[in-house]
Amino acid sequence: MDFTFTEEQKMIRDTAREFAREEIAPTAIERDIEAKFPTDIIKKLGELGFMGMMVDPNYGGAGLDTISYVLAIIELSKVDASVGVIMSVNNSLVCHGLNKHGTEHQKTKYLAPLATGQKLGAFCLSEPEAGSDATKQHTSAKKVDGGWVLNGIKNWITNAISADYYLVVAQTDPEKGHRGITAFIVEKEFEGVSQGVKEDKLGIRSSDTATVTLQDTFVPDENVLWEVGKGFNFAMDTLNGGRIGIAAQAVGIAEASLEDSIAYAKERKAFGVPIAEHQAIQFKLADMAMKLEAATLLTLKAAAQKDAGENYIKLAAMAKAYASETAVQNALEAIQIHGGYGYVREYKVERYLRDAKITEIYEGTSEIQRIVISRMILKD
Ligand code: CAA
Repeated sequence: MDFTFTEEQKMIRDTAREFAREEIAPTAIERDIEAKFPTDIIKKLGELGFMGMMVDPNYGGAGLDTISYVLAIIELSKVDASVGVIMSVNNSLVCHGLNKHGTEHQKTKYLAPLATGQKLGAFCLSEPEAGSDATKQHTSAKKVDGGWVLNGIKNWITNAISADYYLVVAQTDPEKGHRGITAFIVEKEFEGVSQGVKEDKLGIRSSDTATVTLQDTFVPDENVLWEVGKGFNFAMDTLNGGRIGIAAQAVGIAEASLEDSIAYAKERKAFGVPIAEHQAIQFKLADMAMKLEAATLLTLKAAAQKDAGENYIKLAAMAKAYASETAVQNALEAIQIHGGYGYVREYKVERYLRDAKITEIYEGTSEIQRIVISRMILKD
């Protein structure tokens, strides 16, 4: 497999790198402390074409491949993983499904503003009692004249407060199990839609996470996404792509942990020499670099397989599980290398660990990824 990047892919990576350095880095620490949503940064990312990277240009998208998308998320997440997840959710969990399954009307009305960053989207699958076991949806959608009436609570929703549009999964026919679930496009302004308070999180604090409640919310028939009864398949298909985005976010954190550790180890002296000259530190850096390389290659391979139109479910799950675990391990080692300085906010590595942990949990825990991988290899 050839991983020589095209000129276009290199250009996307360099643009993201420069944007991250110039526009994101200066306020990353402050936004983490204050848990402040990066509204202006997201608007600018939209102007750069980063909020709908793989969307058809006819609907405002950049029409790029998944490799370019991965490269951009790595660069942004190296500097601020909160920005990485906001962008990943809008691209992978919202725009992807609309681009693939939306009607002409849905694409013109909802996808175009989402892809250009004028509007922001959120993906509403999880519920207080339906996380890993995603078929157990309590949110109901009852058929009425001209549409559906939705009732329920969605939990742990990234972009919940800042989003304009929600893709909501609800039970339309409980008798049919996962085939009785349907996806709907819900506008924030629809009657009965409300958001909970922003969760006070350990990491990715600048992104907003909250509940979304639907109380007797009328959604017109034209806002059914794909088909009635296809909502669970829609969610699973969407999450496959999302897992590549989260893998890229984790690679970014793992890379930042390594780069900061190398810089610190060359500078900090102990026992008369820079600590980089001690084998104890060298071995840590070597392990971090090795795992980072493997995580990056796995993520790029999953992206390449998706771009080739092949089945990428197993590789996306592998990339997500491996990269997220690498991010946590690299961040932990970065703190160890920094010693006491790694434990305080003056250095960024403590944030890397706080941000890394969620990548092992959302869009399918590491345990769920292992279920997906084992099912795929056992049926081969
Ligand atoms: N890709 C495509 N289709 C899939 C699939 C996948 N990865 N996994 C399952 N399916 C399909 C199956 O083919 C089957 O299709 P049919 O209708 O044709 O039969 C259907 O889905 C049901 O499959 P299963 O019987 O295997 O379903 P299951 O109940 O055993 O669940 C699971 C499988 C893998 C555990 C799944 O429930 C799962 O992935 N759970 C984790 C959910 C998750 O990732 N949640 C994160 C929420 S999003 C988020 O994090 C919020 C955010 O804002 C970031």
